[in-house]
Amino acid sequence: MSRTLTFSIFRHNPRDPASTPRVESYQLTEAAGMTLFIALNMIRENQAPDLNFDFVCRAGVCGSCAMLINGRPGLACRTLTQTLPDHITLYPLPGFALIADLSVNTGIWMREMAERLQTWVHGQDEPDVNALEARMEPELAEEIYELDRCIECGCCVAACGTAQMRPEFVAAVGLNKIARFRLDPRDLRKDADYYELIGNDQGIFGCMSLLGCEDLCPKGLPLQTQLAFMRRKMAMQGIRKWIPLVPA
Ligand code: SF4
Ligand code: SF4
Ligand code: FES
Repeated sequence: MSRTLTFSIFRHNPRDPASTPRVESYQLTEAAGMTLFIALNMIRENQAPDLNFDFVCRAGVCGSCAMLINGRPGLACRTLTQTLPDHITLYPLPGFALIADLSVNTGIWMREMAERLQTWVHGQDEPDVNALEARMEPELAEEIYELDRCIECGCCVAACGTAQMRPEFVAAVGLNKIARFRLDPRDLRKDADYYELIGNDQGIFGCMSLLGCEDLCPKGLPLQTQLAFMRRKMAMQGIRKWIPLVPA
């Protein structure tokens, strides 16, 4: 027999002076294979035409549908209602500017982080346009690709105690990007350069290692390993900076 699902959904439009933050309830009958994407569309079609939420790919690729699902960050398009109890609460991801209801602006946050950490390949100043493509060992390309799978959904930011307390913290998404460029042989930056970017409390030393990011990353990125590795590398770099005789 089909369940009746009750959704308690956060509603607020900060651009509307008449709007106040509140939770509204909606009910619908669960269907086989129903995702939160389908459920939210049904609610919008039949009960709340002004409900705001974001979806683009519906396949766990674009990262735009992340929200708090029964208190845990996750991708709504990849969440089957059958994995949830019959009372489902949906809130926008904390840590990002609210657009309205379940829609947040992760783009502003990600861009600010990317500019601060300079998340692009730093090669030669004057690239040789006539040069052949740089070769890379397949194993190394795979390692880089593994970290490049991040979809910038923001779940690791929402799950991170440090990011919630310290808005400048670059979170696992930023630290993972540095780990990715550090692996890339086309990027000429050294650990001393990366230390200037993340060797502080807004970077790797602000991380409390409680690993909410690892637990909730919908792409299963190896964040625990990368955070531990970068912490060790940056700690060594810090020691070398202040005690220059320590060997590299
Ligand atoms: S590291 Fe994972 S949780 Fe964080 S933004 Fe990337 S895909 Fe999302
Ligand atoms: S391990 Fe570090 S980056 Fe991950 S959630 Fe905890 S404090 Fe945030
Ligand atoms: S809609 Fe793209 S990840 Fe969910």
